[in-house]
Amino acid sequence: MNKRNEIILQYHEYDSIDDLTITEKELIQFALVQIQKAYAPYSEFKVGAAILLADGGFIGGSNQENAAYPSGLCAERVAAFSASAIHPGKGFDMIAIAVQRTKEKASGPICPCGSCRQVLIEYELRAGKPIRILCAGADGKILVFESVADLLPFAFGPKELNG
Ligand code: THU
Repeated sequence: MNKRNEIILQYHEYDSIDDLTITEKELIQFALVQIQKAYAPYSEFKVGAAILLADGGFIGGSNQENAAYPSGLCAERVAAFSASAIHPGKGFDMIAIAVQRTKEKASGPICPCGSCRQVLIEYELRAGKPIRILCAGADGKILVFESVADLLPFAFGPKELNG
């Protein structure tokens, strides 16, 4: 048997923050504030992230770099680990990601890297409900994904470990 399969990814694209819900707007604005807290002297690529907890609370994160480059961490993981450490077991409803590049002018949205997708899907599976991902560029463009699973097909999770 040789079957060719296809995965269709649906996502939303917005030209303006004004087309989003109030909560989504506020979360992106919170992520934008986090950019200022980034420590990114090596890449000069500052990222802010903001998590909306199931109880409505916001937790922020920013990328934190290190002279030993691989020791640094992305904004999304800083936010996700902070949220889980401060509020253990509380689910995440959404994460917003905002970016500010200092090396170039064009500034479209960025989506979480592979490692951050892996970390986020753990929390999505743990809570048993989708985490919405809002990726906001400085150019005003916003990409919205309805779940981490959409960005990480064939994810490795606890089921794979336990059979
Ligand atoms: N970075 C993030 O914080 N989030 C992403 O989604 C992509 C990359 C950070 C890691 C590093 O500090 C810098 O951006 C350049 O890769």
